[in-house]
Amino acid sequence: MSEFVYDIWYFAGLSSDVKTGDLIRIEIASEPITLGRKKDGSIFALRDICPHRAALLSAGRIVDDSVECPYHGWRFGTDDGTCQEIPSLCADQDTDPSKIKVRSFPARENGQLIWVYLSSDKKFSGTPEINPPAFPFATRKPTIDDRLTLNCHVDHAVVGLMDPAHGPFVHENKWWRSRHSIHEKAKKFEPRERGFAMAAHSPSSNSLAYKLLGGKPVTEITFRLPGIRTEEIKVGHKTLLSFTAVTPLDENRTQIRQIFFTNFLSVKLLKPFIAAGARKFLRQDADMVDLQQKGLAYNPKLMLIEDADAQAKWYYAIKKEWGKSRKENREFVNPMKARVLRYRS
Ligand code: FES
Ligand SMILES: [Fe+2]
Repeated sequence: MSEFVYDIWYFAGLSSDVKTGDLIRIEIASEPITLGRKKDGSIFALRDICPHRAALLSAGRIVDDSVECPYHGWRFGTDDGTCQEIPSLCADQDTDPSKIKVRSFPARENGQLIWVYLSSDKKFSGTPEINPPAFPFATRKPTIDDRLTLNCHVDHAVVGLMDPAHGPFVHENKWWRSRHSIHEKAKKFEPRERGFAMAAHSPSSNSLAYKLLGGKPVTEITFRLPGIRTEEIKVGHKTLLSFTAVTPLDENRTQIRQIFFTNFLSVKLLKPFIAAGARKFLRQDADMVDLQQKGLAYNPKLMLIEDADAQAKWYYAIKKEWGKSRKENREFVNPMKARVLRYRS
């Protein structure tokens, strides 16, 4: 298991997660973070541990442009985390609040998606070199929003998510597909920014769910670091964007958040049915992860074989090259080359 991906934007939540004046607590790659929204609507992110005596800042409140710790009322600027005020100080005492800082993280909101930048340098301040990924269709209100915590390292979660071979076994559902429908597939993959895509194609004819959309759908699936997978299904000018963020909470817990944005009326009408189906899918993956953990406890050697596991190999290669290119202060060179993958699923 390798370490987390740094110097990159992580998905931190939906706009609706953080109301004006709110402070919420999230965790990304073993960093406790409080996400807040100021009166002017802007979003910010600070480490969720008070440098004084470790109370959670997320339990405090926002006062003007600062966060007030609930324990002794110290205030920290929302922009850079500098301490602005220590209420217990007398006029002639010389502790300088401005020398005390809580770590701050760059935070951005694009459409309905909030992103937080995690630098490998804990002292990092300023503007990151890269921007969070843009998803123009993610500006509308999400139709479905579901999340689940998997009891595994993020690498296992990502690899499991992009594994085409487990579908007929783990997700053997009447309305989806069965192991009897396994057949050979050939899918074209190409490099994309910090990731890759399964080029636009018409989805498998053995996927009953697609039939609900009517017409001839075209699907494109993308993956990019740190763990963002999208599936965009289009029929004419109707779109369904399924956005999945696989985010490490810590070494042994990973959150999967799946959000659907759509202007398909049929998807909106069938929302309870589709949400339940998506939930069942996630649950099936989570159960398999728990089973896998029992085996992993013995630290066995693992295999990645042929084309069915090629995406997993690309993930590891891309992750490695990202870390290396950051360390060497150079352009990232995508190690993935366009090719057709053939597997039975
Ligand atoms: S612990 Fe935050 S002010 Fe004391
Ligand atoms: Fe799965």
